[in-house]
Amino acid sequence: MKTTTKSPLFTPVELGAIKLKHRVIMAPLTRSRSVQPNSVPGDLMAKYYSQRASDGGLIIGEATNISLTSRGWFGAPGLYTDEQVQGWKTIVDAVHAKGGLMFAQLWHTGRSSHVSMTGGETPVSASVNPSYWEDPARLTSTPSGWIQPSPHRALTAPEIAAIVEDYCKAAERAKQAGFDGVELHGANGYLIDQFLQDSSNKRTDQYGGSIENRSRLLLEAVDALVSVWGGDRVAVRVGPGGTFNAMHDSNPEPLFSYVAEQLNAFGLAYLHVIEPRVRGNIVIHENQGPVAAKQLRQIFKGKLVAAGGFEPDTAEDAIKKDIADAVAFGRHFISNPDLPRRIEKGLPLAEYDRDTFYTFEARGYSDYPSYTPELATR
Ligand SMILES: Cc1cc2nc3c(=O)[nH]c(=O)nc-3n(C[C@H](O)[C@H](O)[C@H](O)COP(=O)(O)O)c2cc1C
Repeated sequence: MKTTTKSPLFTPVELGAIKLKHRVIMAPLTRSRSVQPNSVPGDLMAKYYSQRASDGGLIIGEATNISLTSRGWFGAPGLYTDEQVQGWKTIVDAVHAKGGLMFAQLWHTGRSSHVSMTGGETPVSASVNPSYWEDPARLTSTPSGWIQPSPHRALTAPEIAAIVEDYCKAAERAKQAGFDGVELHGANGYLIDQFLQDSSNKRTDQYGGSIENRSRLLLEAVDALVSVWGGDRVAVRVGPGGTFNAMHDSNPEPLFSYVAEQLNAFGLAYLHVIEPRVRGNIVIHENQGPVAAKQLRQIFKGKLVAAGGFEPDTAEDAIKKDIADAVAFGRHFISNPDLPRRIEKGLPLAEYDRDTFYTFEARGYSDYPSYTPELATR
């Protein structure tokens, strides 16, 4: 469906301290192209992000590890060494040069990992669930390819405090790299989500049991990020009802309502909500509207970014109906570097190729062209 230039997607919006000229945000997208062995963002990544920068538009960078032991996806970048800060700085500078803004998404993968990714350390989680690593169908990305995750162990309370400290340090490094803010990755079955949802959190201490206790790590991590950046440059991403990475909660509505309610205290830049119709990168409920954003909109008082299965017309609708303040697009941004312009002008969107999502080369990454009239006649 064609959108006109009057689309509400192309009106300005303020997300905390940042001012955007349009509401088409690039969602965080793991693409496994950092330079190994040290997980440093290199020139290839700089080219890719620069291609996707738009004047007054926001890019949320791909999930970025806060420490060596937080790693769980081969090729993902980090923000725990000076070399990584320099790599990111080149990227953020390139995005800024095009008038764009960029947040870093901070990531601890928890149990979704393998000892070959963590410097030999046993992966950690809220509590121990052998069925997670015993399932032969569950695979994780490692230097030796996609293999079953390693057995994990439960974190002790002092170790949790150390991880919160790692979030703080990574937030400081994000500042050194010149990012415009940071987003806490609290979705998709990684460490924060493993604490939130009750199928993966069987703890009996102050981090388990009640909704309040299961939300504690998320809130402590947010507090750490806010101490570095101030609330108006910090965001949180959650995936209510998300089942990716074997996640499940027996009662997700009160859980995520509580989280949204608690987040009101921080004056965040935005709350980023993934719709449950998307599992990982597959849309499982094609015709379901944005239910999660709708629910949390009632509770969260700040700006809300919706993501998951949006098309230009449904995104426009979500803004028109005031379900969200902005919409983050994932897969369409992979194959359409100039996505905001294409949507604004009603130009056709290019198809993405799932087979090259996580390969380690330029093909399927920085070789998707921007729209030209010649493309339309191919
Ligand atoms: C290749 C790929 C990588 C992704 N990596 C991340 C990530 O690093 N962090 C994150 O929060 N979500 C990640 N996601 C989820 C997307 O941000 C987004 O929520 C999802 O693709 C649904 O949006 P879409 O329908 O617009 O693609 C990824 C999705 C895909 C397809």
